[in-house]
Formats: sequence, structure tokens, C-alpha cells
Amino acid sequence: MIPESQNKTLHVWQSSARYWDRYRALITEMFAPLTSSLVEQAQIGIGQKVLDIGGGSGEPSLTISRIVGPTGSVMYTDPVAGMLESAQAEAGRRGLTNIHFKQCSGDKLPFADCTFDVAVGRLSAMFFADPRAAGREALRVVLDDGRVAFAVWGPKEANPFFSTITDVIDQYLETPEQSDAPDAFRFAVPRKLAGILEQADAKNVIERRLNFQIEAPISFEQFWQLRTEMSETVREKIARLAPAQLPTVKEAVADAAQKYFVSGRMSFPAQALIVSGRKSVV
Ligand SMILES: C[S@@+](CC[C@H](N)C(=O)[O-])C[C@H]1O[C@@H](n2cnc3c(N)ncnc32)[C@H](O)[C@@H]1O
Repeated sequence: MIPESQNKTLHVWQSSARYWDRYRALITEMFAPLTSSLVEQAQIGIGQKVLDIGGGSGEPSLTISRIVGPTGSVMYTDPVAGMLESAQAEAGRRGLTNIHFKQCSGDKLPFADCTFDVAVGRLSAMFFADPRAAGREALRVVLDDGRVAFAVWGPKEANPFFSTITDVIDQYLETPEQSDAPDAFRFAVPRKLAGILEQADAKNVIERRLNFQIEAPISFEQFWQLRTEMSETVREKIARLAPAQLPTVKEAVADAAQKYFVSGRMSFPAQALIVSGRKSVV
């Protein structure tokens, strides 16, 4: 049976799927450095069979599909139907034929042992119901010399793309929460996810801190719309504000975010952790 908390997580992602589809191009651009780092750390190359766990609206599957080429393949997975439909439609539009799709959770992968060269997850590990079980599953389905690699957010303080809005809103709410999406920062503490992978019996576990810029050619107005639609936490917080408070909140966020918008471009400093391991000692 699916635990209640996991049901809620999946329901939230189902309601977010249409926004992740709408902002696909921006998401691809903003988070491209995460994909490049995952690909590099997992040593993904031509001809490999790669598993993507929690692929959302399609990344990193769509990028990896081109990297592995026609002699390789990607197995996109996500437990949320709306996400899978969005990713599958985009793969179709791009004419990609080496991606396969399966609706499933990272905690219970419907694949035989030793199926893939590599398993990756971009910004999905924080939402696993049982991260240790998911780590074991990822290791089980890769080859004996295979690798697993996950990209997760670093601390909220190092990620103003998220905190600029929520820090302001929290001042107006009676019970401010600690972060934009509490789950998004679940593995922000150094070595936390690395420790979980080690407990799952991963070898050679490496954690690399990635400092990058979340960049896109958008205005503050477009950023406001993107954040207030894409994030369930922000949507929920805004719904709790009195309607008269919203213009004041937006103005305060615009002031706080001003420095990140220069000459029609958005550029936020950001920090992520890329955590990887191997199935066996080599
Ligand atoms: C922040 S989105 C990231 C999506 C995509 N990888 C990206 O980077 O754009 C998190 C994804 O994790 C998925 N997810 C939630 N619970 C999961 C689970 N138990 N196993 C695998 N994926 C899960 C969600 O459905 C959602 O698509």
C-alpha cells in the first residue's frame, strides 16, 4: 500500500504537472547546469542504457537521449501520470525514439537486476518516500560496474530563487514555515544523501557542491508568474494571504529580487549537490 504522505506528495506533483509542462523551455534552460553536472559525474556516454528516476516534464531524460544516441537508450520513470504524459509528448515532438516510459516510484523499480549502466535523478530524490530503499533499488538495477547519481538542492540560504518569495510571504503569514518547499531542501545538509547512499551499500560515494547561476531572459513579472504557478508551496501560501496583502507582498518581493534582474535577464546564484556512487568497488 502507498503511505498517506506519499499519496499527498504525488497528488501535489500531479497538480503541478501542467505548470511544469507550460514552463518546460525555461526549466530546461534554468536547470541545464544540473544536467551537465549529473551527466559528467555519472560519466554518461554514447551507447549507454540510462535510467532516469523522477523525470518530471522530461529532464534529464531528453538531454541524455541525445548524448547516448541511437545505440543507447533512456528509461524515463515518474510515479505521476501528468508528468509522464508531458515528457512523452515532448519526446514525440522531438522525434526521439530511444526513450522508453514507465510510470513508477523510485522506491520500487519494476526492472530486473543489472539492467542499466547508470541511474540518475535530477531534483527528485528529495521526494522519495523511503530514500534508503530508493538508493538500494537504483543500485540493484544498475550493472555491477554501474553508477548512480542524484542532483539535489543545497541550503535555502544559497538558493534565493526559492527564498526571495517565501521569505517575504512568511512575514505575512501567522505560521511561517521554514522554506519554500520543505521537501526541496531535505538533502541540503552536507553528506546527508551521501550517507543514505552509503547505508544502501553504495561504494565510492562522492558529493560535489555545484555553484551555478539560474539564468533566463525573463523579467521580474515573468519570474513572479513562474514561481507562483510552478510551486505548490507558493500557491498554497498565496492562497492563505488576504487578497489586499498580495500587491504589498509582490512589491516587497520585487524590491528584494531587484538585484537579480539586470538588462532584461534573470540571474540568481544557486547551489546544488551532486551525489554519486558505484555499485561495486572498482
Ligand atoms: C522537482 S521535480 C523534478 C523533475 C525533473 N527531474 C526535473 O529536474 O525537471 C520532482 C519529480 O519527482 C517526482 N517524484 C515524486 N515522488 C517520487 C518518487 N517516490 N519516486 C520517483 N519520483 C518521484 C515528481 O513526480 C516530480 O516529477
